[in-house]
Amino acid sequence: MQVEILGNADTVTEQNGALVVKTPQAQARVMVYSPTIIRICISKNFDEADSSFAVIEKPLDKFTYQKLTDTIEVSTSALKLVINKNPLRFNFYTADGNALSGDDARFGTTWQAERVINYRKLYADEKFIGLGEKAGDLNRRGCNYVNWNTDAAMHTITTDPLYKTFPFFIGLHSGLTYGLFFDNTHKSYFDFGATTDEQMSWFGADGGDMNYYFFGAQSIRNILEDYTWLTGRMEMPPLWSLGYQQCRWSYMSANEVLAIARKFREKNIPADVIYCDIDYMDGFKIFTWNKETFPDPKGMIAELKAINFRLVTIVDPGIKIDEEYAEYKEGVANNYFATYPNGELFTASVWPGRCHFPDFLNEEVREWWGVSFKALTGPGVEGFWNDMNEPAAWGQNMPWLVKFGEKFMPEIRNVYGMQMARATYNGTKRILNNKRPFILTRAAYAGTQRYSAVWTGDNAATDEHMLFGQRLVNSLGLTGMSLTGVDIGGFMGNPTPELMVRWNSLGVYTPMFRNHAAKGMVMREPWQWGEENEQVIKKDIEQRYKLLPYIYSGFYQSAQTGLPLSRTLAIDYTADENIFDVKYQNQFLFGDSILVAPVISTAETVDVYLPAGDWYRLSSDEKYTGKQVINVQCPLTDLPVFVKAGGIIPMQSIIQSTNEQGDGLLFIHIWNGSQSNEFIYYEDDGTSYDYQKGAYYKRTIVFDPQKKEIIFSAVEGIYQSKYSKVEVVWHGFEEGVLGSEFENGSEIISITY
Ligand code: GLC
Repeated sequence: MQVEILGNADTVTEQNGALVVKTPQAQARVMVYSPTIIRICISKNFDEADSSFAVIEKPLDKFTYQKLTDTIEVSTSALKLVINKNPLRFNFYTADGNALSGDDARFGTTWQAERVINYRKLYADEKFIGLGEKAGDLNRRGCNYVNWNTDAAMHTITTDPLYKTFPFFIGLHSGLTYGLFFDNTHKSYFDFGATTDEQMSWFGADGGDMNYYFFGAQSIRNILEDYTWLTGRMEMPPLWSLGYQQCRWSYMSANEVLAIARKFREKNIPADVIYCDIDYMDGFKIFTWNKETFPDPKGMIAELKAINFRLVTIVDPGIKIDEEYAEYKEGVANNYFATYPNGELFTASVWPGRCHFPDFLNEEVREWWGVSFKALTGPGVEGFWNDMNEPAAWGQNMPWLVKFGEKFMPEIRNVYGMQMARATYNGTKRILNNKRPFILTRAAYAGTQRYSAVWTGDNAATDEHMLFGQRLVNSLGLTGMSLTGVDIGGFMGNPTPELMVRWNSLGVYTPMFRNHAAKGMVMREPWQWGEENEQVIKKDIEQRYKLLPYIYSGFYQSAQTGLPLSRTLAIDYTADENIFDVKYQNQFLFGDSILVAPVISTAETVDVYLPAGDWYRLSSDEKYTGKQVINVQCPLTDLPVFVKAGGIIPMQSIIQSTNEQGDGLLFIHIWNGSQSNEFIYYEDDGTSYDYQKGAYYKRTIVFDPQKKEIIFSAVEGIYQSKYSKVEVVWHGFEEGVLGSEFENGSEIISITY
């Protein structure tokens, strides 16, 4: 096989706002999306349609460049791209000339048959973070990865690939930051200096274009903001999806579902969601109910609603081959399924037995799929769990011949799950008529945050998986995915009671708090672990409900800026080497002010690294100075959780479900500190889209230690807060500071202390 290396620039022209540079091998297009985002697309056959599943923005019509003898220089207010013409290489600098990242001068972009690879310079101190759901450490230097969405059942903490594809990473070196998003859906590869004698990093794919977006903002926050501007942000999730979720494969009957839900209420353990896994269906046929075990779905859901529970049902892509089954017949009649090149339908086996697979890349199929949800929304389902959408089938090896419309499996596999989630989201959103659906998907591609939450698939009931899961959640947060979770307790195997308790306490600080287990595993509900443990689990779930006003405001921040709820410390403490230490790499900020140190179930004490600043332990208000390692007690009743000095955390009284009105009291907890801080408090009805028409309640809360003042800005939006009274709760302030309460009006409130 020949290797082709991108050669000399023959011509440089301008076409529809893009700079087009032709070489004997290919043409390269340079497009500017914003001062900090530049796209390079090098292709052998540029497709004028230039479509993307991930990107929702368009390039600028015009940008500034200068043609020099050997180079072309593209300049924005933030970036300089130096294009060397002979041979054609691309090198990025900050506007003031610091080298950010660029092609390896020897190889740059190359082809070996269809496979296209970009070789890049590697800096001695360069670190890499990102790629979403990937095994390994926070710093991915020295590792390599493959993106090929896989049903990674029984995966370990080193398995690669897993279920999702997020070809976006952030590089850090010389005190600088940059991001790179490789928008290519083929099987792709990333090598962060694994086997190049520290000479190069490289990435590429089995086909398609060398099509990447370079982000040059000088902070991870700004890079995330830019990346989620380009690929979209999540909408406000339904508030109920942020409560406690109880799942199992499977609660086998309506009676069992109802009994479990009622038990939560009898025991006063807060919860919002219960799931039906595959056994609710008739023969695993999607959009059907088992008539014997779930004879009256509407009645069941009405009873659930009466006790403030919502139901989420699983929906897999495989459509059972069954002449009596409507979806099968419609799909065949309309040509909605994947085929072989000779037109025969592709068949593979999964839960229902022999199946065909909808072509979610086709808009008409997505519409059809969306409308079919009436079988679930009719009885009252509001949450839809998309599983097995890598797509998975027994044997796991879908032939490369399989066609989805004009495209073959190798090109679309990595976006199949995302397109299913898109169809599910758009369809159910339309049917639910101004109610927010909750979508959860296992497979995903960059941009999935616009449609769905994700979870990390079939983990195992071990301490190791618990810590690994946290790393996955933190890493997903670096790719625009904020509403993320893991199977709390572990899917395969049985946790010890201690692990169950510990994992549940970490679940409080996981964006999506869902307990789930595989068939055959011991029951996992909070009362299965002995009376004493039940009380600990209950207390932790109560803590989650107290924190919901803070968590909901955190999701508002995600929806506005792309900043995730669970944040690796690399986001805010990028320059601090200690946070990359494998000992502390799982620690994360949950929202603006809470730092969580995950710890295994058997530890009684643990070393925690607190970054710069002062910190308070949430459970005791004990104060610590940062930029040091502290050793703290970590009994199962007290996960090490800290609040940043100056932290502002709104909380509410315990409620049993987000449907409850509560007592109308909003507590604004403030931890003393020497630096001022502000928090954007956000509230809306939690269930509808009215917030998009102004029906929200938003105010900025400022803590100003110089003026010794807390200021609540005037309220924005026309939504009436459900809290009639606000009470400030002081932590770490001098004795004698008294509680301050006020009626929750809309005017500015200032409290001095
Ligand atoms: C897959 C899912 C798991 C689900 C099971 C049965 O293994 O990952 O969450 O419970 O299928 O539907």
